[in-house]
Amino acid sequence: MLSLQSRSSERWLRQVEENVGEVLIDHAHCERKAAATAMGLLTAYVENEELCVEMTRIVNEELEHFHMVIGQLKQRGIPFRRLKPSPYGRLLHESVRKQEPLRAIDRLLIAGLIEARSCERFGMLRDRLADRELAAFFGGLFESEARHHSTYVRLAQAYGTAADVRYRLQQLAAEEARVIALGSDLPRMHS
Ligand SMILES: [Fe+2]
Ligand SMILES: [Fe+2]
Repeated sequence: MLSLQSRSSERWLRQVEENVGEVLIDHAHCERKAAATAMGLLTAYVENEELCVEMTRIVNEELEHFHMVIGQLKQRGIPFRRLKPSPYGRLLHESVRKQEPLRAIDRLLIAGLIEARSCERFGMLRDRLADRELAAFFGGLFESEARHHSTYVRLAQAYGTAADVRYRLQQLAAEEARVIALGSDLPRMHS
């Protein structure tokens, strides 16, 4: 369902357990960036009515998630601050082809894969995180990120045949699996 080609590692789970506060700050940034990504796609493909409607929904939901994470930080007395991002998003975007409509397909599929990875990781945190209250919070986000994943994959089909999109999704998912396996010393949602 999520198109991912790998599962998150025990290494990452340990990194989260040892740096819960910093990962939570990064998570807030991820939600903020997810809203910005949807807004960017709305701006780029404003003539696509279905895309505009869905992006508007996603922008709103991601900003809602952003506020929910900020609430979790407040509850725990962790001040929100700027954070150096993990290289994950930047490395994935290097695969975006320059020419339209291929560019649209790649941007939508990469947005979908990032949603999928977040979703898969929320599931792992829900099942395994020692802080059970926080685990439940992550678990509560699982379903909407899974839905965002399918929305992005469906929208990509406006820019290519179903077979082309499926093939490209497999290629990009392989690249996503490679990039996420690189990890990062920075404890992040996508490290
Ligand atoms: Fe979200
Ligand atoms: Fe999302």
